[in-house]
Amino acid sequence: MIRKKLIAGNWKMNKSATEAAPLAQEIVAAAGRNTDVDIVVCPPFTALETVGKIIDGSSIKLGAQNMHPEASGAYTGEISAGMLRDLFASHILLGHSERRSYFGETDAFINKKTLAALKNQLRPILCVGETLAEREAGTTLKVVQTQIEGGLEGVTKDQVTNVVIAYEPVWAIGTGKVATTAQAQEVHAFIRGLLVKLYGDAIAQKIRILYGGSMKPSNAPELLAQKDIDGGLIGGASLESRSFLELITAAAAVK
Ligand code: 13P
Repeated sequence: MIRKKLIAGNWKMNKSATEAAPLAQEIVAAAGRNTDVDIVVCPPFTALETVGKIIDGSSIKLGAQNMHPEASGAYTGEISAGMLRDLFASHILLGHSERRSYFGETDAFINKKTLAALKNQLRPILCVGETLAEREAGTTLKVVQTQIEGGLEGVTKDQVTNVVIAYEPVWAIGTGKVATTAQAQEVHAFIRGLLVKLYGDAIAQKIRILYGGSMKPSNAPELLAQKDIDGGLIGGASLESRSFLELITAAAAVK
C-alpha cells in the first residue's frame, strides 16, 4: 500500500495577511502543479482568505489551525467549521500540543471538534505526542494511545480515512531537537497498530501519519524514508519558502 506523502506547514501565530501573500505566491510558483506530494498550508485565521485566493487553482490546499465544535452562537473569539469551509479551507489542525498546553484543550473537547470537522467535510490533522517528562517516565505509547482513542471516539470507518494523524513529540517542537528516526518510527508503527485494532488493517493502511517536531531539509529524507512516516507537519521550516519547498522535494524523492 503506497500512501501519498503529505507535507503540511503550520505557520502558527506568524505572518500577517500582508506577509503571508509573498510566501504563498512563492510556494504556488514553485510547487503549485506538484501532484507527487499533497501540500497543505495552515496560515493564521486572518491570512486564510488572502492565502486561499493565491493558492486557488493550484494543487496546494488550505488548512486552519483551530476551530470551535459548535456551528454558531455565543462563543466570542471563536470560529466554526462552516466559516472555514466558506473560505475554502479543506484541512484543520486539531489538538496541537500548544492548544493542549496553553489553552487547556482536553481529548474530549478535541474529539468534539474532530466530529464537527468531519461533519463539515474538513479533514482533521489530529496532533498527538508526549512531553519530555512523559517520555522519560516511559509512558510515551500510553499517552499517544489515550490521545488517539480519545480524539477519534465515535469516528466511523467511513470517516476515518479523511483523518490524518500527526505525531509531534512535544520536546521536539521548536527546540531543534528532533526524534531519532528509530524513536519516530517506533511511535508511528505503534499508532498504525492501534489504527488496525480500531478500524481494521485495510483502513489503517490508508491513514497517513505525519511526523512533526523540528523537521527540516537536513533530517527529512531519513525520517520520510521510514515505513510508517507518511509526511511532515512543519512549523519553523514552513515560514520560509526555500526550506518548505526543499521538504516537498524531499518527500517527492522517497520511493
Ligand atoms: P517545528 O517544526 O517548529 O518544531 O514545529 C512543529 C510543529 O509544532 C508543527 O505543528
